[in-house]
Amino acid sequence: MTSLIMIFGATGDLAKRKLFPSLYRLFSRNRLEKFAVIGVARRSLTNDEFQQSVKESVRSALGNKDNLDEFVSHFYYQSHDVADSSSYVSLRKFANQIDTNYDLEGNRIFYLAMAPEFFGPIALHLKSDGLTDVTGYKRLVIEKPFGHDLESAKELNKQIRSAFSEKEVYRIDHYLGKEMVRNIEVIRFANAIFEPLWNNRYISNIQITSSETLGVEERGRYYETSGALRDMLQNHMMQMVALLAMEPPIKLTTDEIRSEKVRVFRALRTVEGEEVNQYFVRGQYGEGTIDDVQVPKYRDEPMVDEQSNTETFVAGKIMIDNFRWAGVPFYIRTGKRMAAKSTKIVIQFKDIPMNLYYQTDKMLNPNLLVIHIQPEEGITLHLNAKKAGGHLDAQEVKLSFANTGIHAMNTPEGYEKLLYDCMRGDATNFTHWDEVAYSWAFVDRISAAWQQPMATFPNYPAGSMGPQEADELLEKDGFFWWPVSDLEVDVC
Ligand code: BG6
Repeated sequence: MTSLIMIFGATGDLAKRKLFPSLYRLFSRNRLEKFAVIGVARRSLTNDEFQQSVKESVRSALGNKDNLDEFVSHFYYQSHDVADSSSYVSLRKFANQIDTNYDLEGNRIFYLAMAPEFFGPIALHLKSDGLTDVTGYKRLVIEKPFGHDLESAKELNKQIRSAFSEKEVYRIDHYLGKEMVRNIEVIRFANAIFEPLWNNRYISNIQITSSETLGVEERGRYYETSGALRDMLQNHMMQMVALLAMEPPIKLTTDEIRSEKVRVFRALRTVEGEEVNQYFVRGQYGEGTIDDVQVPKYRDEPMVDEQSNTETFVAGKIMIDNFRWAGVPFYIRTGKRMAAKSTKIVIQFKDIPMNLYYQTDKMLNPNLLVIHIQPEEGITLHLNAKKAGGHLDAQEVKLSFANTGIHAMNTPEGYEKLLYDCMRGDATNFTHWDEVAYSWAFVDRISAAWQQPMATFPNYPAGSMGPQEADELLEKDGFFWWPVSDLEVDVC
C-alpha cells in the first residue's frame, strides 16, 4: 500500500495504544509498501522525540522488535494548532515534501484521533487550506463518537461532507474490526445448516452481551455526557444487531452489505415515551468487589457528578418488525464494572415440538449457537445427545471451534485490519452515514425518556451482571440471560 498517513492527535492515548502498534504489525507483515506517517498534535516535539515515543508504544504493546529503527524512520512530527489556518498551510507544505520524498502518489489518509469537537473544524480546514488537493486518493478516518445525538451528528456530517464525499469517509466502529464480528456474516451465509433456520420460525430470541469489568477510568468527563447508551449501544451493539439480522446481500460489496444493514435499521420498532421503560433498563454501578478488589461507585469516580444520572449499564429488547424477525426479541446488555469482561452472542433456537427425552433432572436444553467475540474467539453449538450408558437420558454436548486453538496465535488486532481496509479503499467495515443516522434516531428516543433522574441509582453493585430489572426484562417474556460464565469455549 502506498500512502501518507496523517494522524491528528498523535500524542494521545489511542495513537499510542492502538495505531502505532497496528501500523507496526502491518509494516512487519510487509503490508505497507511505500508509506510515511506525519504525527500531528499541539505540543512541540522533535522528530526524534516523536520517533522515540512511537518505539516505546510498539515495545509496550508488542515487546522489543529488531526492525523498529527502520519502522520509525518513516515517522515525522508536526506541531499544530487545529484552529489556525497557518498551521495547516505549513502542514500542507510539509506533507507535499514528504509525498515527493517517498513517492506516495498523492495518496492521503487523515486519521482524526482527537476529541470529537475538533472533527468538523479539522475537516473544513483540510479542504480550505488545500490539504485535500491531491492527485491520489484522500480518505478521512474518524473515531467515535460521531455526534452526540441525531442533530449534532447531522451537523458534523455536513461539515465533513463539505470536504470529503461519503465514499471518502471511514467512520470507525472498532467492533467491526473484531475477527468474530466479521465472522458473523460468514457463519450465517456460508452454512447451509444455519441460513434456513435463521428466522422467526426457528429462533426464539437472540442475546448480545458486552460486559466490562473496568469502570470509567479517567474518562469521567466524556462518559458523563455519553453513558452506556451512546458509548456502546448506539454504535457497537447496534452494529452487531444489524449483522445478525440483515438479509443476505446480493454480493459482498460495500454498498450491498451496507444497504442490507440499513434495511434492518429501518425496520427497528420505534420505542418512545412511556414505552421506553418496558423495553429498556438503565443501571448505574454502586461500590462492590471485582477480582477481590474493592472498587468505588460510579458517582465517586474522578470528574463524575456526585448526583450523576448517567447510566453505566443498559439492557434492552430490540424488535425488528420485518418478515424474518417479527416476534423475535433481540436482547442486548452492556455495562461497566460487571462481573466479567465478555462479549458474546447467543442465538437460542425454539424448543422442538415435543420432548421425548429428558435429562436426568431437567427438561432438554434448547439448541444454542454461541458466537464468542472476546476474550475468547470462537463458536459453540449446544446440542442434545444420548448420555453414554443411559437409556432415554439425553445430555447437552457442545461442538466448539476456537480461533486461537486452530491458528495457535491471536488474530490480528481490530485496528490493524481497519487501517489496512482503509488503505485498500474497502469501507465495508466502517459505518455509513445512513446507519449512523438511523441508529441515533433510535437511541435519541431512549435518552429523551431517560432525562428524568433515576431515584434508585446506583442500582447494581460493581462485580454483578447489572440490575435485577435486566433479568426481569427477559423473565416477563419467559426467557433468561444465558450466564456468560457457562458458555466458555472449551478449546483454548
Ligand atoms: C469503546 C467505549 O468504544 O469501547 C469504551 O468508548 C469501551 O467505553 C470500549 O470500554 C469497549 O471495547 P472492547 O473492545 O474492549 O469491548
